[in-house]
Amino acid sequence: MCGIVGILGRHEASPQILNALKRLEYRGYDSAGIATVNNGRLDRRRAVGKLINLSDLLVHEPLPGHSGIGHTRWATHGGPTVANAHPHRAGRVAVVHNGIIENFRALREELSADGVSFASDTDTETIVQLTSRFLDQGLTPVQAARAALKRLEGAFALAFLFEGEQDLIIAARRGSPLCIGHGDGEMYLGSDAIALADLTDRITYLEEGDWAIMSRAGVQIFDAEDQQTARPVNRINVEAARIDKSGHKHFMAKEMAEQPAVLKAALGQYSAADAQGIDLPEALDFKSVDRLLMVACGTAFYACQVAKYWFEKYAGLPVEIDIASEFRYRDPVLGPANMALFVSQSGETADTLAALRHVKPHVGQVVSVVNVPTSSIARESTVALPIHAGPEIGVASTKAFTAQLQVLALLALRAGRDRGRLSDEEFSSLLNELRSVPGYVAQALDREEEIRRMTESLAQARDVLFLGRGTMYPLALEGALKLKEISYIHAEAYAAGELKHGPIALIEQDLPIFIFAPFDALFEKTVSNMQEVMARQGNVFLVSDAKGLAEAGDVPNRLQMPTVPDLIAPIVYAVPAQLIAYHAALHRGTDVDQPRNLAKSVTVE
Ligand code: F6R
Repeated sequence: MCGIVGILGRHEASPQILNALKRLEYRGYDSAGIATVNNGRLDRRRAVGKLINLSDLLVHEPLPGHSGIGHTRWATHGGPTVANAHPHRAGRVAVVHNGIIENFRALREELSADGVSFASDTDTETIVQLTSRFLDQGLTPVQAARAALKRLEGAFALAFLFEGEQDLIIAARRGSPLCIGHGDGEMYLGSDAIALADLTDRITYLEEGDWAIMSRAGVQIFDAEDQQTARPVNRINVEAARIDKSGHKHFMAKEMAEQPAVLKAALGQYSAADAQGIDLPEALDFKSVDRLLMVACGTAFYACQVAKYWFEKYAGLPVEIDIASEFRYRDPVLGPANMALFVSQSGETADTLAALRHVKPHVGQVVSVVNVPTSSIARESTVALPIHAGPEIGVASTKAFTAQLQVLALLALRAGRDRGRLSDEEFSSLLNELRSVPGYVAQALDREEEIRRMTESLAQARDVLFLGRGTMYPLALEGALKLKEISYIHAEAYAAGELKHGPIALIEQDLPIFIFAPFDALFEKTVSNMQEVMARQGNVFLVSDAKGLAEAGDVPNRLQMPTVPDLIAPIVYAVPAQLIAYHAALHRGTDVDQPRNLAKSVTVE
């Protein structure tokens, strides 16, 4: 979603804020803006589109001052215009905001009735107008901000900057993450620690409901009940938080290429000292579980969909999977013997977090699989399992998906052993298969040039279909999602056997159809579905292994994957799903890392 930065420094703030915003641009890039206080005077610059436009504007219209706040926006209320760009300002106060003010209509009506005229269509402007009204009534900046905060409903992370106040930023967190960085005679604020990695390695994470008074000398933090409170200062690994493309053309390319190393290192983190077992927290109790509920959004949901096959097959555990935004608005039947498992790269996805909070009082165990161990979802789970993928900056999730799958596979095997469904021998042999993943993923990545050539024709495609059976069905869904989001080609995925129940009507001459089909127990069935498609002149691209390609007969386009055990096939086949989308996007010339309308971390419902 939106990214927030604040600096109370000893040097010009704008270049530092721009640099920090650059690290947050993955959250949204509809517009960007900065406000500073210089010699007591509050001023701001805002520009539509990517950060580069704001950077250009600042060359012509510099913004001096050592104190400032900045914002990169993913539009919710109001289109991407300068008027709707943050920081919003009214009178003596400017505010940047990530989240949604749910009661903004009521506040707007109230303020309008009071004679306030609004300059934007945003919910955020109600915050500055409210605060400005309190300032006009004689409240101090701290009192005015606090009074405004008490009137707000919804989810937000906020930073306030005031005219005449060179040494004050007020920060508040309710629902959206926010952290404070400690410097030497300087203080910083950021939506995440990555934003501040060039400035400091000392970070305090604000807790839910906290608000803070920041000055160069330090920070006073208050909890939701306005009690002053202490929050720890954590040392973060700045190197791990550094973000660069390491010579790759895009973050997505870098993150795909990192997969073998990431998966190997992550597996190492979960390997027991004796190398025979899995080092997962003892607190995880699969024996007493009668049902596993898995909830997530987008790509993380497809990881759950794959894992459902694993938990059922290897652990005999009944599994329900749900899209988070749907889950909490039906009436799921919950019980103390249920385990709820939430999967999220960011750990901040509002729908997933809301689902977690919804089930927590009703189920026995709340487990999460996350990439950001300090995230809200991790902190609010009883057991949080990090995927150890490192920062993922490309908006399209790649390495986080394969790393999520790996941790979910480990969990399924552990559940199988704990529930007596897997003998020690079966367990060790499956674990060894999992250990071979990094090597096979590297082999799959080696097919990149072939995939690049294969996808040239997609540049002209209007629609693309993806088909698969079993665990390859969620892989087909993932392939279609990746293609849609970064190349803007309309793509759909179907369980191969479902095609004849309707979607086959879509098949016409030359429609590109990707079929993921390793030579497994379902292969023959999938090939029959492929024949149905080819009989109607669909342009089939078969992704299979040597045996599968040999058995499939005459297929127009073929991509050979390594021959892999069933358990790990979805992890290995994720690579062509990613590379197909990546190269199709390159052929079409779209913005791979920052596709239109998207944001990396979706912190609004
Ligand atoms: C797709 C993608 C999204 C995310 C989804 C959930 O490439 O990245 O579909 O998977 O928004 O995000 P997290 O995993 O952060 O909860």
